[in-house]
Amino acid sequence: MNTNNSRIKWGFIGCGNIAGKFAHDLALVHKAELTAVASRNKEKAKNFQINHKAKKSYGDYKELLADPDIDIVYIATPHNSHAKWSILAMEQGKHVLCEKPLSINKKEAEEIIAVSKRTGKFFMEALWTRFNPTFIAVKELIEKGELGALKYLFADFTFKSDKPLKSRVLDLSLGGGATLDIGIYPAFLSYSLMGKPEKILASAVFHKITGCDMQSSMIFKYNDAQAVLYSSFETYSGISAKIGGTEGTIRFHGSFHVPEGYTLIKNGTEKNFKIPFKGLGFTHEIEECHNCIRKGQTESKKWSHRNSLDLIGILDQVRAEVGLTYPQEEQD
Ligand SMILES: NC(=O)c1ccc[n+]([C@@H]2O[C@H](COP(=O)([O-])OP(=O)(O)OC[C@H]3O[C@@H](n4cnc5c(N)ncnc54)[C@H](OP(=O)(O)O)[C@@H]3O)[C@@H](O)[C@H]2O)c1
Repeated sequence: MNTNNSRIKWGFIGCGNIAGKFAHDLALVHKAELTAVASRNKEKAKNFQINHKAKKSYGDYKELLADPDIDIVYIATPHNSHAKWSILAMEQGKHVLCEKPLSINKKEAEEIIAVSKRTGKFFMEALWTRFNPTFIAVKELIEKGELGALKYLFADFTFKSDKPLKSRVLDLSLGGGATLDIGIYPAFLSYSLMGKPEKILASAVFHKITGCDMQSSMIFKYNDAQAVLYSSFETYSGISAKIGGTEGTIRFHGSFHVPEGYTLIKNGTEKNFKIPFKGLGFTHEIEECHNCIRKGQTESKKWSHRNSLDLIGILDQVRAEVGLTYPQEEQD
């Protein structure tokens, strides 16, 4: 077990966009070391190693998994390969932090969790919003009843993609599509503040060539409340969220998946709270990994295996509602 004084040694699988941002934040976390990075391309791995001051680089993911120096592997590849690399990493004795979504469907997620239980290795989906200080403050406020009974939640996540057809964002074989890539955040917000919906309505607009969902709208129906959720690759219309209760309303400041404060509207007055996050916002989930590993836990209590299974199960339901399946699922 890692002691409080030992460094926690990280290895990265995939040297793409998010891996670079994550490396920036890893450097800010006490006792974190970027021990090795792996790319499918040796030169790309070497450049990433130099840029982010990693100790080693590999031109093959499996070579990194075999490195006995590494404690925890961060998986930053397209969604379709998350289950494969998470399972292989744990079977090689590594803890795992895997980018969201942890898999393309609940069936794969169950396989990952089963391996964590069998090997006793820590596994967490990198749902970084759960560890953001504003999100934590808002969740506590709601749990204390400050908003009264929740009745309404709105969240949207949009950006205009200029990615090529073969990119992970648009290519169905890589898990492309708005729901899994960004719709996961509005769904996360509703699930983590209001629980599992009783009923889900959903509708999508599909890419004419690749068939991935370019827009996805969802209504989560609860006993006494509704969440209206939207994601899209077609506009820059916002990444915003608000929550309406019988006694008050909350609006997140900045992009709601990485908020930097909130406004509370209650009794006819508005109060603004600024709550900065550290680095680019990934430091908080990294610290959670360290805490869990040091305590010998296989999962986080804040974003548990059950939470990941529930959320991917909700996204399975959304995809069933709009009629979206991935090629791998058709072979099942
Ligand atoms: N938490 C967040 O805020 C956040 C933000 C963005 C993305 N993400 C998640 O992180 C994951 C990666 O996203 P990204 O934006 O970093 O994507 P990206 O820039 O395309 O990088 C993905 C990397 O995966 C590796 N890879 C392995 N097999 C691949 C294949 N068949 N095709 C393409 N790349 C392949 C490549 O690394 P090598 O060439 O080095 O092998 C590639 O650079 C996604 O699951 C996404 O949902 C999370």
